[in-house]
Amino acid sequence: MTAYGNFPGSRPRRLRTTPAMRRMVAETRLDPANLILPAFVREGVDAPVAISAMPGVHQHTLDTLRKAAVEAVSAGVSGIMLFGVPEDEKKDARGTAGTDPDGILQVALRAVREEVGDDLVVMSDLCLDEYTDHGHCGVLTADGRVDNDATLERYAEMAQVQADAGAHVVGPSGMMDGQVGVIRDALDQTGHEDVSILAYAVKYSSAFYGPFREAVGSSLTGDRKTYQQDPANARESLRELALDLAEGADMVMVKPAGPYLDILAKVAESVDVPVAAYQISGEYAMIEAAAEKGWIDREKAILESLTGIRRAGAQMILTYWATEVAQWLGGRDVRRG
Ligand code: PBG
Repeated sequence: MTAYGNFPGSRPRRLRTTPAMRRMVAETRLDPANLILPAFVREGVDAPVAISAMPGVHQHTLDTLRKAAVEAVSAGVSGIMLFGVPEDEKKDARGTAGTDPDGILQVALRAVREEVGDDLVVMSDLCLDEYTDHGHCGVLTADGRVDNDATLERYAEMAQVQADAGAHVVGPSGMMDGQVGVIRDALDQTGHEDVSILAYAVKYSSAFYGPFREAVGSSLTGDRKTYQQDPANARESLRELALDLAEGADMVMVKPAGPYLDILAKVAESVDVPVAAYQISGEYAMIEAAAEKGWIDREKAILESLTGIRRAGAQMILTYWATEVAQWLGGRDVRRG
């Protein structure tokens, strides 16, 4: 290239020449401590039940949940987020099983705490949809709308029973206005000042929740568009965020992750609390399905999807691959690139 003198004067490729060089200059690293495992526990079954739309994920029994928690600890995962799946006949209009101290989620929280103590941050999904016979995240008015303020009373009760059962962190995911403030008050008034709130501050009404509905045996018909955010909106997320922080959120979450990385980046820039993102069921299912067909490299695609979420600004990532990825990372060395 003498005709062009020293053209090209700048050669970014120099920093990509070897695996060791690429590793040294990498801006984003995944660490097992970034990962949180969402896990489902089902009442009344004596063997785990496979979720067909989420190959590799099961509705756990209490016993297999304990094992999954121990496995997560060994792999270096930092937290577990529990979802309860009650027996169908326990569902009702008010989601009573969600506030029963012997409801499946509370039983599971006690079991996991007994098993792992404080070695894992134990979190609970705080929402009514798993427990209502209509499948909505709140209680309904006589004409079938989700009643915000009546739902807040139920969330306050849920916060107390989940904290009583041993949750270190509660994760309100119902998108009711005022939920974080009401939950903070309920926790403080019941001696749970140390229980933190991971607010699903930004939660979009997403088609990618599809497989989750199977995972929790959802009874929902219709959609959640009157309470979850419209995918078309970005500025609204900053408003939701500001409200949750003002109400006392200790950590905030953006959900889903992959299709909302622009939102995640904005959120991460604008807050001074830890930021989480939830790589949801549909994001999981898409990669598993394409990999199963041989269309993408499963391990590489999983790591790339998680790296993207980290790069956009999430310190913590909820992912159904948490334990498996943490195991890979533990064994990762420069030769594997
Ligand atoms: C509501 C809740 C949902 C998810 C987590 N919490 C479902 C919804 O809002 O419809 C979805 C998680 C996933 O898709 O992996 N309790």
